[in-house]
Amino acid sequence: MEADPLKVAVAFNTYEPFVYRREKASEDSVAKVAEVVCETLKQAGMEATLVPLQRSMFNFLRRIKDLNVEVVVNLCEGFFGKPQWESNVAAVMEILHIPFTGNGSRTLALCQDKHQAKAILSSFNLPVAPSQLIASAEEMVDLKFPVIVKPNSEDASLGVHPESVVYDQEALAAQVKRIIETYSQPALVEEFIDGREFNVAVLDDGEIKALPVSEIDFTGMPEGYPKICSYEAKWYPDHILYKATPPVCPAPIDDDLKERLQSLAIIAFKAMGCRDYARVDFRMSGQGEIFILEVNPNPDISLDAGYARALKAAGIDYAEFWRIMIRNALKRKEENVATNGRR
Ligand SMILES: Nc1ncnc2c1ncn2[C@@H]1O[C@H](COP(=O)(O)OP(=O)(O)O)[C@@H](O)[C@H]1O
Ligand SMILES: [Mg+2]
Repeated sequence: MEADPLKVAVAFNTYEPFVYRREKASEDSVAKVAEVVCETLKQAGMEATLVPLQRSMFNFLRRIKDLNVEVVVNLCEGFFGKPQWESNVAAVMEILHIPFTGNGSRTLALCQDKHQAKAILSSFNLPVAPSQLIASAEEMVDLKFPVIVKPNSEDASLGVHPESVVYDQEALAAQVKRIIETYSQPALVEEFIDGREFNVAVLDDGEIKALPVSEIDFTGMPEGYPKICSYEAKWYPDHILYKATPPVCPAPIDDDLKERLQSLAIIAFKAMGCRDYARVDFRMSGQGEIFILEVNPNPDISLDAGYARALKAAGIDYAEFWRIMIRNALKRKEENVATNGRR
C-alpha cells in the first residue's frame, strides 16, 4: 500500500500596513514565491497548502493545527509589515514544536542586525568592510569616503538607492537623516567597496556545501551611477538599473578566487549558526581584497533569484532542494534538536 502523501503548509507573510514606503515590490514577491513552492511540492507528490500569515498570529497557528501538517515550509520574511519580526515567527514555531524549514529564530535575528552580524563575523576573523552605526545625522564618521548608507535592519536592498553612495559629509548627513526618518532605525555607514560583487549560496544537505559562485555584472552600468544592487536594480524589471545589473552564474572567475569565496561562505554560514540554506554576499576591491557584506539566512528563493540560479548551476532540481529542506526539518524533529539555530 502506498504511504499517505506528506502534509505540508507553505507559510508566507502577506500583511503590509506600512504603505507609506516607496518600496513595495519586494513585499509582493513573497506571495508569488509561496505559490510556486506550493505547486512544486504538489507536483512532487506532497499534500501542500498555502497558509498566509496575516494580521493574526492566532489564526495562522489555528490553520496550521487544523491542517494537521507534518512540516511547515517557512517563507515568512516578517510579520505585521516588520521584517524585524521575521525571527519571532520562527520563534513561535520553535516553542510550539512545529517543524519548519530554513533558519532558526536565533540566526534570523542575528543576521537581521547588520552591525551586530558584522561583529560576529569579525570575531571569526572573517573580513568585513569598516563601518559605523549612526543614530543621528549630526554624528561624524571616522571612515574613508566614499561610503554607503543603509538601514541597519532591513533587507532586499530596502533603503539602498543610487544616492546612498556619498562622497562628502553633507551628502552623508542627508542620507543618514533619510534612513532614520523613513525606517525609524539607525543607519549603517560603511566604506564603499568599489569593485566586483559575488553571491555564494550555501546548502546543508547533511553536509554544508557552497554552490557555484554568482556575480553581478556591472559592466553595463550607465555613467554617473554607483555600481551597486540598489532597490531599483533588484525589484523593477523595466528599470534601467535592473537591466544594467544582470547576474551571471557561474561567475567568470579562476579556481583560486572561487575556492576562497566558497570557503569564506561556509565559515560565515557556520559563524552565524545557519542551517538548511543561506546566501552570502561579497564585494571585492580593485586590489582583490574580499569583504563579506552580509549573510542572508532567508534569501529570496524564487525561481528567478540568485539561490535557485545557483541550484540550477549545481545541477540540483528545485523540487529536490525542497525535498532536502523538508527532510532536514523532519530529521531535526526526530532527533529533537533544539530548533533555535543551535546545532
Ligand atoms: N560596503 C559596500 N560597498 C559596496 N557596495 C555595497 C556595500 N554595502 C552594500 N552595497 C551594495 O548595496 C547592496 C545591498 O546591500 P546589502 O548590505 O547586501 O543589504 P540588503 O540586506 O539590503 O541586501 C549590495 O548588494 C551592494 O550592491
Ligand atoms: Mg544583500
